[in-house]
Amino acid sequence: MPSPAPGAAVTARAPAKVNLLLQVGPRRDDGYHDLLTVFQALSLHEDVRASLAEGPAGRVRVTGTDGTDVSRVPLDGSNLAVRAVRLLAERTGTGGALDLHLHKGVPVAGGMAGGSADAAAALVAADALWGTHLGLEQLGELAAELGSDVPFALHGRTAVGTGRGERLVPVMTTATFSWVLVTSPVGLSTPAVFREFDRLTGDGGSDLGDVRRLRAVETALRAGDPAQLGAALHNDLAEAALSLAPHLAGTMEAGRAAGAMAAVVSGSGPTVALLAESPAAAADLAAALTDRHGAQHVRTASGPVLGAHVLEAVRATAVTDQGARDAGPADVRTSPPAPERSEGDD
Ligand code: C5P
Repeated sequence: MPSPAPGAAVTARAPAKVNLLLQVGPRRDDGYHDLLTVFQALSLHEDVRASLAEGPAGRVRVTGTDGTDVSRVPLDGSNLAVRAVRLLAERTGTGGALDLHLHKGVPVAGGMAGGSADAAAALVAADALWGTHLGLEQLGELAAELGSDVPFALHGRTAVGTGRGERLVPVMTTATFSWVLVTSPVGLSTPAVFREFDRLTGDGGSDLGDVRRLRAVETALRAGDPAQLGAALHNDLAEAALSLAPHLAGTMEAGRAAGAMAAVVSGSGPTVALLAESPAAAADLAAALTDRHGAQHVRTASGPVLGAHVLEAVRATAVTDQGARDAGPADVRTSPPAPERSEGDD
């Protein structure tokens, strides 16, 4: 296997998700909940650049687009992208520390699986950089070990998720849907929202054998009809998220009043996802809500989009097994905008 040369780098991109449907069953013995969910990948992205570490240990750098607040992103071994790279190295017997640069476009702790997207992008980037070429199925198995939403960030598009959300079946869609995402300055912890769900339902959960809501979502997706999809959106975790963050009710109401076809809490929240009739309607809706929430907290996006994929591979000067040298393209990546955090800043 050719070893990557100093200067070699791969940048991979993975999408945010919104849950079009989220039905939550009772808590399992392992603490997780079985789900019946429909994920849609949205055009808010995480870009992860993996390169051979310049020092003995890998460093993590995090930057954000559009005012994304990255101050709560861990820079140590608990970061899901770092865990993804370590898991891939361990399973493939690959050595060598990597520097990771996470460029975040997905709200942090927003219920849109930004951390999971980092892990998916890191798996794809490291797999390409190290030349381990595991393929989607094997990467998917590693993804499921890393977190319930990581396999979907890898696969992207629109899919039904069962189990913890890690078992995926693609869903046919005939249209691109337009979304407005209203993020919250305060994050919600996913385990806390599931605990609140258990408390509110008395450890009950909903009947995952009841597929009527799933059929309604699938029908709307096949028809490509935003009004139909809006009527079919449903999230069992909404009540728990609203119980912990009551201000979300006002955000949803403001979205509906400003012309959204539907408002739903995204995953475990606190991001509120508003479905719009068209890209133009989404832009109008975002403009109306920006006055109330501030530009940093209102974004437009569309879906479905692709799952994790390589954006750019820079081979620099690659040294092959035979020691041959091969000049690759120059690194054309521009320096990232602020805000920026690096390990050692705090
Ligand atoms: O799998 P992941 O690490 O993303 O899950 C974070 C937490 O969310 C879990 O520890 C669990 O508390 C909760 N969770 C759950 N059921 C799921 C997915 C997540 O209870 N299907």
